[in-house]
Amino acid sequence: MNRTKKFLVAYYSHSGNTRTIAKLIQNFTNSGLFEILPKQPYPEDYNKCVEQAKREINSGYKPELQNNIPNLETYKIIFIGSPNWWSTIAPPVVTFLSGCDFSGKIVIPFCTHGGGGQGHCLTDVEKLTPKSVHSEGVAFSGNRVHSAQPEIEKWLQNIKY
Ligand SMILES: Cc1cc2nc3c(=O)[nH]c(=O)nc-3n(C[C@H](O)[C@H](O)[C@H](O)COP(=O)(O)O)c2cc1C
Repeated sequence: MNRTKKFLVAYYSHSGNTRTIAKLIQNFTNSGLFEILPKQPYPEDYNKCVEQAKREINSGYKPELQNNIPNLETYKIIFIGSPNWWSTIAPPVVTFLSGCDFSGKIVIPFCTHGGGGQGHCLTDVEKLTPKSVHSEGVAFSGNRVHSAQPEIEKWLQNIKY
């Protein structure tokens, strides 16, 4: 296990599930943590959020972000987390991945979902980071994130982190 600070966990979370997983990974790997925040937060109302996300995903909209990641160059291994939104990653994660240079880095995707599994989430992260090396990602069930620690440890040990 390498516990130096060369890991980063970057994630977007609307209702907290992906944040919970991100923090568990952060604890296990002693990584930096970066929350991707859209300038305009998504509606808290589930149905409104679902409708807005559908429109944005269908049109390929990339929302502006509130924040940029400082010192991306200092990180070698980057976990990217997103909720599964309409079987893909949430638009703020698309903006984040499109706006940074991940060449030569190791990118490891993860997502949380509401029963639909990983959908295209993990492969979409890979497609948006074509100059990176990828390690196998994992999809976590959104209603079991609070007991996901053993699954996280097994996953990270399997991929040798
Ligand atoms: C806009 C929207 C779209 C969603 N689409 C899906 C989906 O296609 N498949 C699925 O399994 N869950 C879907 N969900 C459920 C979320 O993936 C799940 O609740 C996730 O754990 C939320 O993560 P978060 O708490 O970090 O935002 C959707 C939720 C929202 C708000």
